[in-house]
Amino acid sequence: MEIKKICVLGAGIMGAGIAQSAAQAGFEVTIRDMEDRFVENGLTTISGNLDRAVSKGKMDQAAADQIMGRITGTTDLVMAAQDADLVIEAIIEIMEVKKQVYQELDNICKKETLFASNTSGLSITEMASVTQRPDKVIGMHFFNPVPVMRLVELIKGFTTSDDTLNIAKDFVEKIKKTSIEVKEAPGFAVNRILCPMINEAIFVLAEGIASAEDIDNAMTLGANHPIGPLALADMVGLDTMLLVLEGFHRELGEDKYRPAPLLRKMVRAGYLGRKSGKGFYDHTK
Ligand code: CAA
Ligand code: NAD
Repeated sequence: MEIKKICVLGAGIMGAGIAQSAAQAGFEVTIRDMEDRFVENGLTTISGNLDRAVSKGKMDQAAADQIMGRITGTTDLVMAAQDADLVIEAIIEIMEVKKQVYQELDNICKKETLFASNTSGLSITEMASVTQRPDKVIGMHFFNPVPVMRLVELIKGFTTSDDTLNIAKDFVEKIKKTSIEVKEAPGFAVNRILCPMINEAIFVLAEGIASAEDIDNAMTLGANHPIGPLALADMVGLDTMLLVLEGFHRELGEDKYRPAPLLRKMVRAGYLGRKSGKGFYDHTK
């Protein structure tokens, strides 16, 4: 099957980046969110990224206009999904919400349409189980910021077919990223390693061992990470970090995955990182 039309669900941090990357590779993309203001935010992020590329001389204005012209924003799920060959879901990291969307999609989409979840670590098998096409559901895990990060983890659920995996591999290649195949397990490969490190950095902060700036300097200067773990948590979104760690703790059942209480407290206070303006750092200035 040839993938031509893409539907991206969720116009947040990841959905906008995924839509941009697919449109840059020539795909027609419809991006859908729940409310107009979320759709607008996503489109504004994409046009901002393209404007920056134009101003840096990395892209000409005509190319940027063509990319933007391939992206349609909507709140209408039927309109977004009915013609799609591939739906990439990038909505909130809550299994029950995702399953509800997959049930709706299953009724709306063509029977050959593939469903790919950008989940950070939830079970693909469980999402697939609520559809009549469990062989056509796969994990397609992108990294933030999507237009820059080169990796995509591909996760076969218990029922995912080899055909689906091969089509997904081909798509990832077309959008000029590198895929690795990962077995289904909480957090797959990257997040299983990365998220406990971020959580530990939050414990180090909460225990007063070092300041946020020094923890981040420690990991950039002492371990050559591009940014420190607390700055990275702010970039990912503290709400998403908490949901991911709760998933690890629930599924893996070990205390070492317990989310740092400070993380939970900050999320409750509305400190979600860059997306809300405040997290470990103030992003409003
Ligand atoms: N969107 C699009 N492009 C962006 C961007 C964004 N949010 N942020 C930076 N960029 C682009 C810049 O425009 C710039 O592009 P050019 O090279 O074409 O000019 C390039 O990235 C480098 O940016 P900067 O020079 O401003 O900053 P930098 O050198 O510090 O790089 C970074 C920024 C690439 C984000 C770098 O800090 C980095 O690699 N950080 C770590 C990212 C990471 O670990 N991501 C994984 C998060 S975990 C995850 O995604 C999985 C999950 O499920 C939670
Ligand atoms: P986000 O909070 O920035 O955006 C999520 C968007 O989904 C919101 O705009 C919300 O309105 C929308 N949404 C919620 N329910 C919806 C529904 N039923 N239909 C359509 N849209 C709906 O979150 P994000 O950071 O983009 O994360 C999205 C997914 O990607 C999550 O599964 C997350 O775990 C995963 N992920 C996140 C990162 C990251 O660094 N933030 C990296 C890789 C994967």
